[in-house]
Amino acid sequence: MLQDQQFLRIPGPSPIPPSVQRAMAQPMIGHRGSETSELLRSITPRLKKVFGTEQDVMIVAGSGTAGLEAAVINAVMPKEEVLVIVTGAFGARFAQICEAYGIRVHNYEVEWGKAFDPLEIQQHLRSLPKVRAVFATFCETSTGVINPIHELAAAVHEVSDALIIVDGVSCVGGVETKMDDWGIDIMVSGSQKAFMLPAGLMFVAVSERAWDVIDANPNRGFYLNLSKYRDNLEKDTTPFTPALSLLFGLDQVLTMMEKEGLENVYHRHTLMKEMTRAAFHALDIPLLTNDTDASGTVTAIQPKDFDAEEFRKMIKKEFNLSVAGGQERLKGKIYRIGHMGYCSPADVLQTIGMMELGLMKIGKNIELGKGVAAAQRIYLEKGQN
Ligand SMILES: Cc1ncc(COP(=O)(O)O)c(C=O)c1O
Repeated sequence: MLQDQQFLRIPGPSPIPPSVQRAMAQPMIGHRGSETSELLRSITPRLKKVFGTEQDVMIVAGSGTAGLEAAVINAVMPKEEVLVIVTGAFGARFAQICEAYGIRVHNYEVEWGKAFDPLEIQQHLRSLPKVRAVFATFCETSTGVINPIHELAAAVHEVSDALIIVDGVSCVGGVETKMDDWGIDIMVSGSQKAFMLPAGLMFVAVSERAWDVIDANPNRGFYLNLSKYRDNLEKDTTPFTPALSLLFGLDQVLTMMEKEGLENVYHRHTLMKEMTRAAFHALDIPLLTNDTDASGTVTAIQPKDFDAEEFRKMIKKEFNLSVAGGQERLKGKIYRIGHMGYCSPADVLQTIGMMELGLMKIGKNIELGKGVAAAQRIYLEKGQN
């Protein structure tokens, strides 16, 4: 096998563009100097656009889970009641974090592989008048579902003052996000998915309404106290040493997104999703989610007549192509293809081509090229140029 060549098609960490790699290799600068302030001034207004907000987006050194934890401890106090919508492993994580802080959790469980129904949640919420926050996952990475958070926010606001807190770790930057227009109170994301960076940064955007709640909360923790990040950001600085190399990279990521145009970034993700789905439909291999609930960033395949784990091992060994397995109750039952960030329709065609060969090699009789051809047809129909 050709050394050093790998095809990273897991749903994060995702590949890093060469210009972002180069940006991150810049020599270190003083974290309290004017260069860092300038860097933050360059990043902040552009990052807001990706979140669809006029509010500041806090940038914190930590993984996505630190972002979820920050949202929990800043917005909710121990013993308060919350509703957590669990559509997969990451919804469950929100509930675990809340429980770890002594928050009273009402879990709203949805079958893994399906999106939640906002009106059902609205109905459920009517019976829970003390709920202070509703937690939801935008893209549930463990199933490849994109949840209707826009409709959820509208439905919740009609019947409750609860804050809407959303985990957007695996899709913000890849799918349209209009936090302010949609009425989302806290949106969390992370660097290693659609933001095309290594893991290590998390982002938290907060609505005015949520700031009122946060400022009134005496238990905001220390490192994850979001008010500190906001107050420092107003002075173009950070409360603790920023992950400067990642910020150099983020500045370049934003430049790349601007050059492509955010609308085109979103279109590319939709296109890659549709190409991937068309390929598996053509090969008659079932997908976990239906077309409406499917995320632009990750697709889950649910094989009926071959072993997902054997297949993953085969394509890894044969091509150094990495895709993710199922998590928790879906372990061994599905595999997941990431098509986010630094990933193009050309990468999707290559991935499907390799997968067709991998399927033949594990003994599944398919017509070679059928999946690729179906994806190509989608590209011809809906591609950008
Ligand atoms: C939707 C979602 N939320 C949270 C996380 C956790 O992020 P991290 O692993 O960076 O802590 C992930 C990571 O895969 C995710 O996909």
